[in-house]
Amino acid sequence: MTSQAMVAEFDEVAAWTAEAVGDLGDEHAIPAACRGSASPAALAWLAEACELSAGDRLLDVGAGSGGPAAWAAKRFGARPILLEPMPAAGRAASRLFGLPVLTADGQRIPLRTGSIDVAWCLGVLCTVEDKAAVLREIHRVLTPHASLGLLVVVADEPIADPPDGNYFPLQSELVDLLGACGFDLVEQTERPAAVPLSWTRRAQEVTALISARYRTHPAYALARRQDTRLADLFDRGRLSLQLLHAVSL
Ligand SMILES: C[S@@+](CC[C@H](N)C(=O)[O-])C[C@H]1O[C@@H](n2cnc3c(N)ncnc32)[C@H](O)[C@@H]1O
Repeated sequence: MTSQAMVAEFDEVAAWTAEAVGDLGDEHAIPAACRGSASPAALAWLAEACELSAGDRLLDVGAGSGGPAAWAAKRFGARPILLEPMPAAGRAASRLFGLPVLTADGQRIPLRTGSIDVAWCLGVLCTVEDKAAVLREIHRVLTPHASLGLLVVVADEPIADPPDGNYFPLQSELVDLLGACGFDLVEQTERPAAVPLSWTRRAQEVTALISARYRTHPAYALARRQDTRLADLFDRGRLSLQLLHAVSL
């Protein structure tokens, strides 16, 4: 079930982000709309690992407000299709980047079998209880031997009190899941820590404008609480951000 905290975090903040980018300028759009903690280095790793090429149909499952997919279109000439269940996040992606958005759940992807060249799913699996259902659907829509790029928040041990709506997998569970859903895990690396100042500055300017406008809004407090709980788990070394490249068998 979708919690109020997740609607705040993924839907309301996405709408506020699009509004803030409208005021600050388009150069803020991609950094501010990468909500799954993707960075230029992380996105480049995924794009290279997936051998993303100009014209590839790239399905971004749980695309949020579209930053990673827009980056792939801009830097690699991919043709993204965004899939996102939260309606305001999808509207934010259309408004910011003019990309096609399917408002749907990753467990029921409204696309033909074998119609997609590459799929990304960034910062999503840890918010999904039935991860196998999403991975099987992604496998269905991919062409055989196609690449899947993942960014996953992985837990070192089971986390007793995670932020609302989070179900962090363990490394061993993730590997087993990929195999059970028809994927071969090719390679994996921790997300590179370094993020250029030019990127963080733009993201922070958007965050600051949202805070100035909405800090008294109940959804803002809920989203902040989610962020703080997540940051605390990272600080204590309980979570890590992993990039994975898998291929559909
Ligand atoms: C942390 S955000 C990441 C957004 C985006 N991938 C990015 O990197 O900026 C997680 C996203 O997963 C989406 N999501 C949650 N459950 C989902 C599901 N069952 N199917 C597809 N997307 C889902 C949320 O709505 C949210 O937009």
